[in-house]
Amino acid sequence: ASGSSSAESAKSKKIPQLAEYIKSDKCKRIVLMLGAGVSTAAGIPDFRSPKTGLYANLQRLNLPHPEAVFEIGFFRRNPVPFYTLARELYPGKFRPTLTHSFIRLLAQHDLLHMCFTQNIDTLERQAGVPDDKIIEAHGSFASSRCIECLRPYDNDDMKIMVECQDIPHCHHCENLVKPEIVFFGEALPPKFVNSIGKVSEADLLLIIGTSLTVHPFASLAWRASDSTPRVLINMDSVGDLGHRRSDVVLLGKCDDIVVELAKELGWYDELVALWDET
Ligand code: APR
Repeated sequence: ASGSSSAESAKSKKIPQLAEYIKSDKCKRIVLMLGAGVSTAAGIPDFRSPKTGLYANLQRLNLPHPEAVFEIGFFRRNPVPFYTLARELYPGKFRPTLTHSFIRLLAQHDLLHMCFTQNIDTLERQAGVPDDKIIEAHGSFASSRCIECLRPYDNDDMKIMVECQDIPHCHHCENLVKPEIVFFGEALPPKFVNSIGKVSEADLLLIIGTSLTVHPFASLAWRASDSTPRVLINMDSVGDLGHRRSDVVLLGKCDDIVVELAKELGWYDELVALWDET
């Protein structure tokens, strides 16, 4: 019993200490690294959670292996599984979470240096995070292009094709079209590559809702300077978080932790007001 209470009391001190640091003038530039765990509360499954993760629920698409749904080689041969999934994930049906609104709140307090996200759901934009502070490292559904001649494909046409489960083809060269989501085997957007340096400028790195299994995104966590606290907010421990003296590991649902942090910061009412706007 004493063990758990000491663990509990240790955790209970971490969030007030984190809030104190965020309020201090040592903390001016906060960098975020987001994964699918941030959007599960919005109703979008993550990828690798054992029962609920997307990769555990794609049997109906009879793929050779789950990740094939996002592999460019497989897509060229058979675009149907991707477009079946695209219909379920397409933006417009989901509301941002409290965690997304907290990121907007950081920007409003002039503390958001950059928000790197692996998510393709555009919920950061929908939550009102400033566009110049968002790096969608794995692209998003926000635009589409022919995979051969690279001509842009109209967004409204894409929305209609996805809704009625047609496979869109390029009006110019008849080849397959796909949303600009970064598939396995494709390069990450130049905006990501050009912004990597922002991580080393961070006074605080918040890593939220990711298994840190996909590179090069995951390697951003190693770019924070040794003196920069790296805070993991996740259901379980991942990556090398906890190995550095200044690491902080907060295990639990991100929305619960973010609410506790907002209360410690005295920002709870602002957070709820922002979230009510989404
Ligand atoms: N609160 C906190 N953590 C959560 C929550 C939640 N509500 N829900 C899930 N998690 C955690 C899971 O425990 C897991 O550690 O979020 C993590 C999600 O990990 P993944 O499912 O692997 O998602 P992600 O890390 O974003 O995947 C990276 O893999 O398939 C590719 O390109 C795809 O961007 C994706 C990349």
